[in-house]
Amino acid sequence: MKDVYILAVETTCDETSIAIVKNGKIVISDTILTQMQTHAEFGGVVPEIASRMHCENITMVLDQTLRLSDIKLEDIDAIAVSYAPGLMGSLLVGIEFAKTLSYLLDKPLIKVNHLIGHIYASKLEYDYEYPLLALIVSGGHTELVKMTNDYEFELLGATTDDAIGEAYDKVARVLGIPYPGGPGVEKAALSGQVTYNLPKSVVDETYNFSYSGLKSSVINLVNKEKMKGNELRLSDLAASFQTVAVEQLTRKLDIAMKKTTIKNVIVAGGVSANKYLRSEISKVVESNQGKLLVPSFKYCTDNAAMIGVAAYPLYLKKEFTTLALNGISHINIVN
Ligand code: KG4
Ligand code: ZN
Repeated sequence: MKDVYILAVETTCDETSIAIVKNGKIVISDTILTQMQTHAEFGGVVPEIASRMHCENITMVLDQTLRLSDIKLEDIDAIAVSYAPGLMGSLLVGIEFAKTLSYLLDKPLIKVNHLIGHIYASKLEYDYEYPLLALIVSGGHTELVKMTNDYEFELLGATTDDAIGEAYDKVARVLGIPYPGGPGVEKAALSGQVTYNLPKSVVDETYNFSYSGLKSSVINLVNKEKMKGNELRLSDLAASFQTVAVEQLTRKLDIAMKKTTIKNVIVAGGVSANKYLRSEISKVVESNQGKLLVPSFKYCTDNAAMIGVAAYPLYLKKEFTTLALNGISHINIVN
C-alpha cells in the first residue's frame, strides 16, 4: 500500500501544534508552540488570549512543520484536526484552519477526539496489543477506559468532580507555585517528605475517581496554618498531596488489572509527564505482570502528532467529515 501522510492540527487549549505523520506511526515533522509563558502571568489559561494567539501563530506553525520535512502540501493525503473537547475559541481556530486546508487542497478532513489522541500517543513508540487499559490523566479528565480494538472503547470509570491535573493546578495556586502548576508541584515534592495527613477519596471497589475533597483539604490546611501564623512546609505539603493524588490512581488501576486480567496499560494526558506517577504506576503494572505503554515526555502533553496517529485508523475506514464540522467543548471518550 502507498504511504499515507496525514497533516494533523491541534489547538484545543494553549498549544498550537501541527504535525505530519506517516502511516499512523512515524512523525515526519512536528511543531508545538506553547503559550504557557503568556498565561502564567494570569495564573491560568485565559480563553480569549488563547484563541487570539492560535490565530496569530497557526500559519507560522504550519510553515515550520513543512520546512522541517521534505513533504509538500500536495503530498498530504488527509487533514486531521482535534474537534473536542477543549476551549471553544481555541478549538475553532484549528478547525477552521484544517477545513480551509482540506478545501484548498481537496483532501479529506478527519475529526479526532483529543482524548482519543492522548490514548494513541503511545503508538508512536509501541505496537498495541488489545485488550488494553488506558488511564487518561489530564487537566480536564481522569478516566479509566477499556480498549478492545481500534476505536472500541468502554468507559470503566471517571472522576465524579475535578480532574487530577486540575487538582495539581489548584493546589499549586494555593501554594504560590506559578502556572502550570503540575510540573511545579512535582518539583517541590522532590525535596519534601509525606508529613501532612491528607484524606484518601473513593475508597471503594468502583473505578470512579474524586479530587475535589483532596483539593479542599489542602486549601483548608493552608488557610488554617496561615491563621495560626505557622510556617508552611511547602515541599512536604506538595509531597503529601502528590502521594495521595497518585495513590488513588494506582489503587483503582490495580483493581482493574486484577478484575479484567488485562495486562497492557496505557497512561495518557498531561499528568503522565509526572515522573513520580509514572514510577508508581509502573510498580502496579509490574506487580500484575503487565506492560506499561507511556509516551515520551514530549508526547504526554498536548501535541498534533498524537492526533495524526489517532486519525490513521479513521483514514483507513474512510471515516471522513464535512466542512460543516464544529467544535464541542465537553465530550468524553465514548460519545
Ligand atoms: O493533556 P494536557 O496537556 O492538557 C489537557 O488536555 O488538559 O494536560 C495538562 C495538565 C495540567 O493540569 C498540568 O498541570 C498537568 O497536565 N501536568 C502535570 C505535569 N505536567 C503537566 N501534572 C503533574 N506533573 C507534571 N509533571
Ligand atoms: Zn490534552
